[in-house]
Amino acid sequence: MSNYHVKNLEEYFQVYRKSVRDPETFWGEIAEENFLWRKPWDTVLEYNFEKPEITWYKGAKLNITENCIDRHLYARGEKTAIIFEPNDPKEKAEHISYNQLHDRVCRFANVLKENGIKKGDRVCIYLPMIPELAISLLACARIGAIHSVVFAGFSAKAISTRINDCDCKMVITSDGSFRGSKTIDLKGIVDDALESCDGIETVLVVKRIHSEITMVEGRDRWLQPLLDEASNMCQPEIMDAEDPLFILYTSGSTGQPKGMVHSTAGYMVYTAYTFKNVFQYREDDVYWCTADIGWITGHSYIVYGPLANGATTVLFEGVPAYPDWGRFWEVVEKHKVNQFYTAPTAIRALAKERLDFSEKHDLSSLKILGTVGEPINEEAWHWYNDTIGKKKCPIVDTWWQTETGGIMISPIPFSTPTIPTFATLPLPGIQPTLMDEVGEELSGNMVSGRLCIKFPWPSMARTIWGNHKRFKETYFSAYKDMYFTGDGALRNSTGYYRITGRVDDVIIVSGHNLGTAPIEDSINEHPAVSESAIVGFPHDVKGSALYGYVILKETGETRNHDNLRKEINQIITEHIGPIAKLDKIQFTSGLPKTRSGKIMRRILRKIAEKDASNLGDTSTLLNPEVVQEIMDNAL
Ligand code: PRX
Repeated sequence: MSNYHVKNLEEYFQVYRKSVRDPETFWGEIAEENFLWRKPWDTVLEYNFEKPEITWYKGAKLNITENCIDRHLYARGEKTAIIFEPNDPKEKAEHISYNQLHDRVCRFANVLKENGIKKGDRVCIYLPMIPELAISLLACARIGAIHSVVFAGFSAKAISTRINDCDCKMVITSDGSFRGSKTIDLKGIVDDALESCDGIETVLVVKRIHSEITMVEGRDRWLQPLLDEASNMCQPEIMDAEDPLFILYTSGSTGQPKGMVHSTAGYMVYTAYTFKNVFQYREDDVYWCTADIGWITGHSYIVYGPLANGATTVLFEGVPAYPDWGRFWEVVEKHKVNQFYTAPTAIRALAKERLDFSEKHDLSSLKILGTVGEPINEEAWHWYNDTIGKKKCPIVDTWWQTETGGIMISPIPFSTPTIPTFATLPLPGIQPTLMDEVGEELSGNMVSGRLCIKFPWPSMARTIWGNHKRFKETYFSAYKDMYFTGDGALRNSTGYYRITGRVDDVIIVSGHNLGTAPIEDSINEHPAVSESAIVGFPHDVKGSALYGYVILKETGETRNHDNLRKEINQIITEHIGPIAKLDKIQFTSGLPKTRSGKIMRRILRKIAEKDASNLGDTSTLLNPEVVQEIMDNAL
C-alpha cells in the first residue's frame, strides 16, 4: 500500500488513520518518496495556532518548477504537459510537451531576470487563459519571484489595489483577450490601473488579439521579441521550503481583499497529493479543469498539482456558451478528456440548455467528474451524474478554499460512496470538526455547526500579506487552536460532511466570493446614495445573486430610478468588476438597525429570499417601522 496513491476505501481508512495518528511520519514519507529535494528537511512540522505560525519541511531546499517540469524530462519529455484549447474552435489547439514547457519557462524566467526581477520580488499577472499565463507563473517560481495573479475580469481599481498592497514591480498582461464573440481591452485596463501604482517599473505585453494599443515608452515591452532573444536554459533558484510561492487575493467580509500567502514545499506536496487521489490520475489520462488560473482552483489544479504529477492538463481560453452551449462537450470529445472539473454555476447553466448539446458528442472518455466552489444543489448533481457521466462517472464534490491551498473534503472516486450534495469525507491529513456558536465542539454525528480544522495541513496559507494580525483574527481567533473556515456544515450519520454555505458576510455568486462591505463601499460613493446594504438571494444559475437595499440622500430624488440602478452597477463594475453587479436594487427610506446601529442583515436576507413570513424578533430594532416599508416594496 502506498500512502501517495489511495486506491480503495479500505486503504483510505488505513491511510487516514495513519495520517492522524502520526502526521509527521505520514507527510514525511509522502514528501520523501515523491518529490525532488535539493536538501532534506530538519523537521516535518512545527506549528502554533495561537500566533499563528506554521512551518512544514523546515530546512528543506527545493524549486517547485524542477518538480513540475525538469524531473519529468527524462521519462516524459515528449509527453504533452499542456493542451491549449483556444476561444475560437477554428483556431488550432496547441500541445505543449514537457520539453517545450521547460524551454518556454526558462526563456520567460530569463526575461524576468533581465527586466530586473529577482527572488522575493512580486509580479502581478493579469492575463487571459493562454499558455503564457501558466508559463508566467512557473517562470516566476523558477527564479523565486512571488506571483500575484489577478483574474482578468477584475477592474482597473481592483488591479491597482492588489498591485499596491503587495508592492509589485512588474505587470505581465496582454494586448487584450478573447471572450466568446467579444474582445476585452486588457492593456487599456492595466494602463488605467497603473495611473495609481508608482512601484511598477515594467509591463510585459503578450500579443494575443493584435489590437491597437498604446505602449508607454520605458515601461511597456512586447514579450515575444524578448523571449526570442532569451536563453532557454535557466538554473532554478533554490528556495527554502517556507519561502512564499505566491500571493492570491480573496474577498473578506470586510475591508480590503486579503492577500493569502502560500509557501513552496507544503503547497507543492499537498496539491500534488490531492490531485493524484481526487482525480485518480493515471499516466495517459487527459485532465481538464475549466476554472480560470486567476482563482486558486486554477493555480492548484490546472498548473501546480497536475504538472507535479507529470499529467496532461487542458487550458481552455473560452467560455461554455461559445460558439454554442455544446463547447465543453466538443472539447471533451476532441481531446478525449478523462477527468473533468468544473463549478456548480456552470453545471446549472448547461443543464438549462437543450440535451442535444451534450448528446451529439462522444463523452465516453470521461471517468471522473468534479465540482467545486459552492454547494451543488441536488438537481444539478443529478443532471451532471446522469447526462454527462451516464451514471458511470463518480462525482467528486470537492470542498476547499483559497486559504486551504488544496482540496480538503472530497470523495476518493471509485472508493468513497457518494451522496448528492455531500462533499463526504476528509482527505488524509485533514481533521475537520464542527463547533457551535459558543465555542463547544460538536461531537457525534447528525449535527450541524461551523466548520473548523483542528490540525495543520501542508498547503494552508501562512499569512495575509502585510497583515498577520488580520490572518490571526480572521482564521484563528473564533475558536482556540483551530482554523475557522467561515463555512457552516452538517455531519450525517455516516460522518459525511455537507457544506451548507458561508456563515459570514461573504456571498458566493457564480462561484466567486464577494464580500458585502467592499460592494457597499463602492455603492456609497455614488453622490446620490447615503447608505446601502447587500445580501444574497437564491438564483437558479448563479447559486446566489446580489440584492441591494439603497438609501438615497434626498428622498425626493427626481431622477429616473432605473438610470440610478444602472449608475450604481456601473460604479460597482469600475471598482470591483462586472461579477459584483447587483441583480436587484431596492430604494428604501431606511435599513433595519439594532440599537447599537448594526444593520440586521438577517431581516434583509429573508425579504430578499421572499421568505418574510418569519422574520423573528424585530422588537429590538431601533426602527421597526422600516421593515414593513421594505416588505411592501420588495422586488
Ligand atoms: O463557502 C465555500 C465555498 O467556496 C468558499 C471558498 O471560495 P474560494 O476561496 O473562492 O475557493 C473556491 C475554490 C476552492 C468556501 O469557503 N465552496 C468551495 N467548494 C465548495 C464550497 N461550498 C460547498 N461545496 C463545495 N464543494
